[in-house]
Amino acid sequence: MADKQTVISKILSGKYQPAKAVVDVFAPANIALCKYWGKRNLELNLPVTDSLSLSLGTLGSHCKLSDTDKATDRIVLNGNELSAEHPFVKRLVTFLDLFREHPSERFCIETTNTIPTAAGFASSASGFAAVVKALDRRYGWQLPAAQLSILARMGSGSASRSLWQGFVRWHAGQSDDGMDSVSEPLESQWEEICIGLLVLNRNQKKIGSTEAMKRTVETSALYRAWPQQVERDMTCMLSAIEQRDFEMLGKTAETNALAMHATMMAACPPVLYWQPESLIAMQTVWQARNEGLPVYFTMDAGPNIKLVFQKADQDAIEKRFEGLVTANPWEDD
Ligand code: DP6
Repeated sequence: MADKQTVISKILSGKYQPAKAVVDVFAPANIALCKYWGKRNLELNLPVTDSLSLSLGTLGSHCKLSDTDKATDRIVLNGNELSAEHPFVKRLVTFLDLFREHPSERFCIETTNTIPTAAGFASSASGFAAVVKALDRRYGWQLPAAQLSILARMGSGSASRSLWQGFVRWHAGQSDDGMDSVSEPLESQWEEICIGLLVLNRNQKKIGSTEAMKRTVETSALYRAWPQQVERDMTCMLSAIEQRDFEMLGKTAETNALAMHATMMAACPPVLYWQPESLIAMQTVWQARNEGLPVYFTMDAGPNIKLVFQKADQDAIEKRFEGLVTANPWEDD
C-alpha cells in the first residue's frame, strides 16, 4: 500500500527550487453541503465517498512561513506560541517532516484564523491548505491547485477542498495511492448563495472528527447506508446548482447533515455533537421556513450550526439569528 512519502515523491521529485526566506499566503475555510464522513485509507485520508463544499471567502487562515534557528519548529496560532506538546503542533510538525528539503531545517509557522477557531469551525481545513500553499511558495514547486489539493488532503481530508473559493467537489477516487482523490471547483458557480456561522457553544469538542469517523465506520450499522445517501444527495445537489433550485439545494444539504449525524449516533460508543442549543437553532430554522424565510442548516463535528441562504435574505436572516457571521463564498481575500 502507498504511504505519504511515496505519493509526495511522485508529485515533488525534481521540483525544489532555492528556498524563499519568508512567504505569506491565505486559504479559505470550507463547509461541506454533502459531507465527507469515513475513510477508505486512514494514512492518506482517502474518503469513502465524494463530497461537495462551499468555501468561506475571506474567512480562513493566513499563514506566514519563515526559518527559525531554534531546534524545533515554532507554531504560533492567532498570536500565541503553542507548546510542542499541543496536539495540533504534533500533527503539524509530523506533516512538515514530509516536506523539509534538509532534515535539519526548522520553520516558524504563524497562522492567523479569520474564522472563530475557538468555536470549533473548520479551521484545520484552511490551516493545512494554507501550509501547503506556503510550502509551494517557499520551495518554488509551482504546482497546480489540483496537486496542492492532494498534498493538503494528507494533512486533513477536508483541506483538499480549501484551495478554491465557491463550490468545490472532492472526488473520492479509486486508486490505492490517491492520485485520483482530488478536489476541483465546479464549473457552475452561484453567487447568490451565502453561508452563515452561528456560534452557539465555545467549548472544545471531546472527540475530533478523525476519531469519530473511524469509530462510525467500524461500529455503526447505519454507516452501511451512507455511501448510497451521498450518491443520491450529490446528484440532487449538482442538479440543484445547475438549475438554480435553492429549495432543492438547501433541503438536500440539511438531509445530508442529519443523515451523517445519524450514522455517528448509531456508533458504539455513540458520538453526539448536538447540544441543547444546537437543537434549538435547528428548530428555529424550521420555524423560520414555516414562516416563509428560505433558510437551511448544516452541522459538522461540533455543536455549532451553519446556515445556507440567499443574499437577498441576508438582512432578514441576520435579524432572526443574533450574532450570525455571514461569509461570501466568492469573495477573494
Ligand atoms: C464533518 O477533514 O476534519 O467536517 O481528514 O481526519 O482531518 P480528517 O477529518 P476532517 O473531517 C471533516 C468532517 C466534516 C465533514 C466535511 O467537512 O466534509
